[in-house]
Amino acid sequence: MQQQIAIAIDGPAAAGKSTVAKKIADYFGYIYIDTGAMYRAFAWYVLTNEADPKNEEQSIQLLSSFSLTLERENGKTFVMVNDHDVTKEIRSNIVSLHASSVAAYGAVRTKMVDLQRDMAKHVSVVMDGRDIGTNVLPNADVKIFLIASAEERAERRYRELIRKGEDVSKNQLLTEILKRDAQDSSRQIAPLKKAEDAVEVDTTSLALPEVVTKIINEIRRKVPAK
Ligand code: DC
Repeated sequence: MQQQIAIAIDGPAAAGKSTVAKKIADYFGYIYIDTGAMYRAFAWYVLTNEADPKNEEQSIQLLSSFSLTLERENGKTFVMVNDHDVTKEIRSNIVSLHASSVAAYGAVRTKMVDLQRDMAKHVSVVMDGRDIGTNVLPNADVKIFLIASAEERAERRYRELIRKGEDVSKNQLLTEILKRDAQDSSRQIAPLKKAEDAVEVDTTSLALPEVVTKIINEIRRKVPAK
């Protein structure tokens, strides 16, 4: 049987993790797992149930009725909450903000991390998030920490949301990204942090193909069979 490979890609909000991780997964034929989508899905569920994501007790009460699956079809992943497709809804700006709040709760993280480790048990994966290299898959074969300046990240998120028809201001997005970074880096449990053995890649002035090539080379170097 072929040995399974795990690639961890962590970094702050809107650094381009999911775009890069998808390309790497396609290139090597691995499964892409977007762990941010899982926290987003729970934030969506809390909001949909008219609870307050900033209220830990209210939020975690909803965990027992929250069932999450990531379904793959024709190379795309669909995020299903209790059999309802939330793939598009979880990308809104309001869900982004609240995902960071619910991701700070221990009970939420325990449930998500169990699911994430389970998903990586039997297949080779590229998993992106904040704590993959430090906590979810500490023995990952390759760990990448993807960064970009806050201004560049706000610009990228702005273009993405405008394309989707959301009415947003770039300055407001910059403020929100900085707030999310601060919240994700300062929480008690599994904060956003570069793993000691992660390779940092700054994407501020790199084009996507350059970033992807850099990471592919890093994987080939560390996992020679590839
Ligand atoms: O990567 P993203 O923007 O989709 O993530 C949404 C939020 O989820 C982010 O603010 C932090 C949280 N998150 C986390 O705490 N741990 C992860 N492994 C992935 C995301």
